[in-house]
Amino acid sequence: MLEARSDIRLKIYKPNKKITETALLSGVKGADIILSLLTEKIDSSVMDAAGKQLKMIANYAVGFDNIDLAAAKERGITVTNTPGPELSEAVAEHAVALIFALAHRIVETDNFTRAGKYKGWGPKMFLGTDVRGKTLGIIGGGAIGTALAKKMHDGLGVAIIYTDIKRNEALEGAVGATYMEKNELLKKADFVSIHVPLLLSTRHLIGEAELKLMKNTAFLINTSRGPIVDEKALVIALTRGDIAGAGLDVYECEPLIDCDPTDTYELRKCANAVLTPHTASATIEARQAMSRVAAENILAFLDGKTPPNAVKVS
Ligand code: GLV
Ligand code: GLV
Repeated sequence: MLEARSDIRLKIYKPNKKITETALLSGVKGADIILSLLTEKIDSSVMDAAGKQLKMIANYAVGFDNIDLAAAKERGITVTNTPGPELSEAVAEHAVALIFALAHRIVETDNFTRAGKYKGWGPKMFLGTDVRGKTLGIIGGGAIGTALAKKMHDGLGVAIIYTDIKRNEALEGAVGATYMEKNELLKKADFVSIHVPLLLSTRHLIGEAELKLMKNTAFLINTSRGPIVDEKALVIALTRGDIAGAGLDVYECEPLIDCDPTDTYELRKCANAVLTPHTASATIEARQAMSRVAAENILAFLDGKTPPNAVKVS
């Protein structure tokens, strides 16, 4: 347990809904530290509204794409995030859940059963696919990708291939994962799961060309950030059967599920997609750990130490 500190004055936005831009700009005024959620865009206008004394932004998320890192660097503001084993396990478990939901068609068949449509058994009803013995392609072999690789390899005999900007020898050693280029991975994998941060270099990492490389029996899982996948291209691929299905926890224009609700492509209509509302890390264990990690970062900073999870700005 962390001890309460009487030298820290807290100003908390209490309503259980997203803060408005106006309330954010006035709320941060005078703050030395901002503890932000992933739904808050912390850009230069928020930093300037806070004032020159602002020294730290502690994000309550492992992702940090909601923070303008260049603007923070310019102003000498430290940015931290909340990685950790609990969060990695929760997100990896959610990816496993999406994989199984797709392979065993859990959501489709649940809807069918509830709708009273189950009138008789048949050997070819809702044929799915085994997960065992398949190949999982992991895009991003960091902590979350590694946690997923271990579960799938050790528990299910799934072969692991992965791609990243650099090799992860620990991952290779732990599960015999094979490193390869992204395009080769996309051609080989039965399941592709994305575990990279959203950066300029990862925006639309998976688009029309990449989806075309995937097998038409393969599934795409995204529990990272929506804009990493070109959602419009994904809907076309799902509709045409270029890939077998997708399990998504994040969306390109979140919280919208289709960027343009009036457009002709509609993710929500794809029966071969399983959609969850950015809840991959929404376990009690992960949320408690994220709170603790965010607080530890702040306390280290106040004690003049480098916070354990300072985000490196390149
Ligand atoms: C959740 O999406 C996180 O970044 O922690
Ligand atoms: C299926 O229910 C079986 O008994 O094989």
